[in-house]
Amino acid sequence: MRFDIVTLFPAIFDGYLTQGLLDKAIRNELVQIKRHDLRDWARDNPHRQVDDRPFGGGPGMLLQVEPTVNCVEAIEAMDDRPARRILLTPQGKRLDQPTAEDLADSPRVLLLCGRYEGFDQRVVDILEPEELSIGDFVLNGGEVAAMVVIDAVVRLLPGVLGDENSSREDSFSRGNRLLEFPQYTRPRTFRGHEVPEVLLSGDHGRIAAWRADQVRLRTEQRRGDLLR
Ligand SMILES: C[S@@+](CC[C@H](N)C(=O)[O-])C[C@H]1O[C@@H](n2cnc3c(N)ncnc32)[C@H](O)[C@@H]1O
Repeated sequence: MRFDIVTLFPAIFDGYLTQGLLDKAIRNELVQIKRHDLRDWARDNPHRQVDDRPFGGGPGMLLQVEPTVNCVEAIEAMDDRPARRILLTPQGKRLDQPTAEDLADSPRVLLLCGRYEGFDQRVVDILEPEELSIGDFVLNGGEVAAMVVIDAVVRLLPGVLGDENSSREDSFSRGNRLLEFPQYTRPRTFRGHEVPEVLLSGDHGRIAAWRADQVRLRTEQRRGDLLR
């Protein structure tokens, strides 16, 4: 799978892409993540400016339509695989696990990270991207949101997690879309808090039944909306 990220700040991704599972997935060639500086598509200006003031007045700057459209078209031509175009915006459809699963089935995803007041509306009108939000709050830029999307998608790609089951049992995942059961590791006792006896029993049937009960209980207590 290939990701293309369009951003004014490609270096923001440096640390994130060189650590942990992401780093390993890139090194094992399970995913390619290409960053593109929108300023490389600034035309005829020495300051590589790609933003301007909004028509009609108001605070802040907008990312311009021309460099953005040119940039997306040039990036798409770099690879034969068709790209899902995603524009990160607080006004988009809320990212959830089914969306991440759906994106993980795509060969290529292109992520547009806004800054300032966001993009000129014609970027949406012309490129017709899917618009995705990571929640009802406003970030300074789309880069953190892009990392969230990449993180949620990459862990679903075959071969990325050591044990495929760990993503299958995760909260919200395909299968039941409920919350995961509680888990424990050593020591068996800490400050009087014991690991539930059933988990030490070695009885796989009982353990599975206990976990299934916990899934329902936990979901009922914390996220009743998921059961309904
Ligand atoms: C300061 S925000 C612009 C917000 C915009 N003026 C509005 O009110 O909808 C700058 C950029 O951050 C990104 N962003 C901010 N909040 C986001 C969110 N909740 N989800 C996804 N992207 C977000 C978008 O790319 C956006 O263009």
